[in-house]
Amino acid sequence: MVIANHPIIAKAHTNIALVKYWGKLDNQLIIPQNDSLSITLDEFYTQTAVEFLPSLTADEVIFDGQVLSDQASLRVRTFLNHVRDLAGIDYRAKVDTKNFVPTAAGLASSASGFAALAGAASRAAGLNLNRRDLSRLARLGSGSATRSIFGGFVAWQQGHDDATSFAYPIDEQPTWDIAVVALVLTAKQKKISSRVGMRLAVETSPFYSAWISASQADFKTVKTAIQNQDFELLGHTSEQNAMRMHALTLSSDPNFTYFNADSIKAMNMVKDLRLQGIPCYFTMDAGPNVKIICQGADAERIAQYFQTEFGEEQVLVTRPGSGISISD
Ligand code: ADP
Ligand code: DP6
Ligand code: CO
Repeated sequence: MVIANHPIIAKAHTNIALVKYWGKLDNQLIIPQNDSLSITLDEFYTQTAVEFLPSLTADEVIFDGQVLSDQASLRVRTFLNHVRDLAGIDYRAKVDTKNFVPTAAGLASSASGFAALAGAASRAAGLNLNRRDLSRLARLGSGSATRSIFGGFVAWQQGHDDATSFAYPIDEQPTWDIAVVALVLTAKQKKISSRVGMRLAVETSPFYSAWISASQADFKTVKTAIQNQDFELLGHTSEQNAMRMHALTLSSDPNFTYFNADSIKAMNMVKDLRLQGIPCYFTMDAGPNVKIICQGADAERIAQYFQTEFGEEQVLVTRPGSGISISD
């Protein structure tokens, strides 16, 4: 294995889960409680450069142009240890990452962030992993990053250990015209991270086992909907799945919610649009920002409707994005 003698740059897109991951069976290996399924989004991504250098005595992490403190860089440094173990090297690394997505706001920065880091760090360390193994590695950084290795519609097979828990593409370049209108209602960082929020649900929500059986059924339904290009089935099931997940935050102890007043307003507006005959459905990850699943032909009209309410800058039309790319 030969480590690269120049920085390796990787770009990975975020993804929005249609069937959500919200709980781990194994907190170290990040083995989830259920299968999940997402769309990779073209407009939101992370770009990360990594170089392992014999001259460094500690890992150095630059995040959006700022050098991170030891405490702030802990999650990245822990991840780099997995890469060093895998590659059998002991060098420290310089990591320079930029998010083209708000960080920790429920727009899946941890997905694009750890997918890009897995891609750049593994190749910089001299590893040449196939996409399945990259997906397994990214999983150790953040569960949702497992799916950001691939483009289009992607499933994360729950599995039962490190070898069997990885993502696979369902339809990398969808031939049907599907879009996601993203409402960036706030770019503020959430108070309760996904990691802490889902652990609370597993440990305290009395509805947790019902969530698991419902989401396993939703997974099969959404997969079938993708195979049959059945937009309404896909949209309806995704919206139901999102609300089932958010019911877990409300039923945790202590209870909390990722909704804000604008999230609720936006969800009601989606229902109004449906009553007007425009097929569209909402979903939300762990943050107040709402994503609207729609058919490409309706996307601009839907975006305009929300721009009137929330402002032009806050509304972005996104489409299925590509999988990870890594420089040589
Ligand atoms: P999100 O909804 O944005 O995924 P999470 O709570 O899941 O929010 O994760 C946010 C955390 O992900 C950040 O605090 C940081 O630790 C990590 N993260 C985000 N972007 C990056 C990146 N580009 N590189 C490494 N880690 C990142
Ligand atoms: C609501 O992948 O961010 O977006 O594995 O602890 O890093 P960690 O959590 P993360 O959780 C994502 C939760 C979600 C649903 C999903 O993306 O499936
Ligand atoms: Co996340």
